[in-house]
Amino acid sequence: MVPPITLNNGVTMPQLGFGVWQVPDPEAETAVTAALEAGYRSIDTAAVYGNEEGTGRAVAASGVPREDLFVTTKLWNDDQGYDTTLRAFDTSLSKLGLDYVDLYLIHWPMPARGRYVDTYRAFEKLHAEGRIRAIGVSNFLPEHLEHLLEETSVVPAVNQIELHPHLQQSAAREYHAERGIATEAWSPLGSGKGLLEVPAIVAVARKHGRTPAQVVLRWHLQLGNVVIPKSVTPSRIEENIDVFDFSLDTEDLAAINALNEDRRLGSDPATVN
Ligand SMILES: NC(=O)c1ccc[n+]([C@@H]2O[C@H](COP(=O)([O-])OP(=O)(O)OC[C@H]3O[C@@H](n4cnc5c(N)ncnc54)[C@H](OP(=O)(O)O)[C@@H]3O)[C@@H](O)[C@H]2O)c1
Repeated sequence: MVPPITLNNGVTMPQLGFGVWQVPDPEAETAVTAALEAGYRSIDTAAVYGNEEGTGRAVAASGVPREDLFVTTKLWNDDQGYDTTLRAFDTSLSKLGLDYVDLYLIHWPMPARGRYVDTYRAFEKLHAEGRIRAIGVSNFLPEHLEHLLEETSVVPAVNQIELHPHLQQSAAREYHAERGIATEAWSPLGSGKGLLEVPAIVAVARKHGRTPAQVVLRWHLQLGNVVIPKSVTPSRIEENIDVFDFSLDTEDLAAINALNEDRRLGSDPATVN
């Protein structure tokens, strides 16, 4: 149902997945179970979310073959550094109950700490050992990627960044595209905070007989972004994956493109340390 995108190392990843930020562990098990039943095959968690165990339980109980799943987790900031990364990865893997992950991301660059290159070298080792199918980063600005590319040998497969109609990130998207790095959008629905009531989006939704969330997800997909909408509401979990039987036209895309305000909901990667 969900089209795959091919990452720069040939691994394929579903273009739409399921995010579990701010979902407590027991609820994550329920939500991920609902998502897998609805047809999602890609799940995005992180060590800091505290729900790798619930995610892992849902995956194990689902009966979905491991090779059909795409599991992403992220290394938390406190664990940056070569040896600490190797240990944190073992902990994540054991909490997930898996013997490999599909994608492992450095959660934030933390530039003032100067450890993301060493961290990434540990990622390269784990990747070479076959314990991670694709390695990448999150919240990296082009300047951080530039430094990483100079110092290491595996080009990150993915950069997961805040991206939604109020923060369209065209310069970052272009930088990634030129280097074969897939752009993955976090808070693709603007975290549900007001974006879905914006009149231009509501108008496009009415025109297609769809919901504002579906229209925003279509906008991402047609731009080529990977998206990971989060919901703990069963009807929304289904709604958010039911976006492959309609498309936005040039006029719809232009109306949404006009909403950019370069406005972040989350932290600025340049200053989070
Ligand atoms: N790398 C990073 O630093 C980073 C940072 C933030 C997020 N992420 C990842 O990105 C994922 C998504 O981001 P997000 O969780 O911030 O926000 P989001 O997916 O943009 O929005 C989620 C919010 O929208 C609501 N919602 C979901 N579907 C809806 C629909 N169809 N109609 C109306 N409201 C809807 C949800 O409510 P209910 O749940 O109550 O239904 C929730 O409040 C996260 O879960 C996480 O995996 C990564």
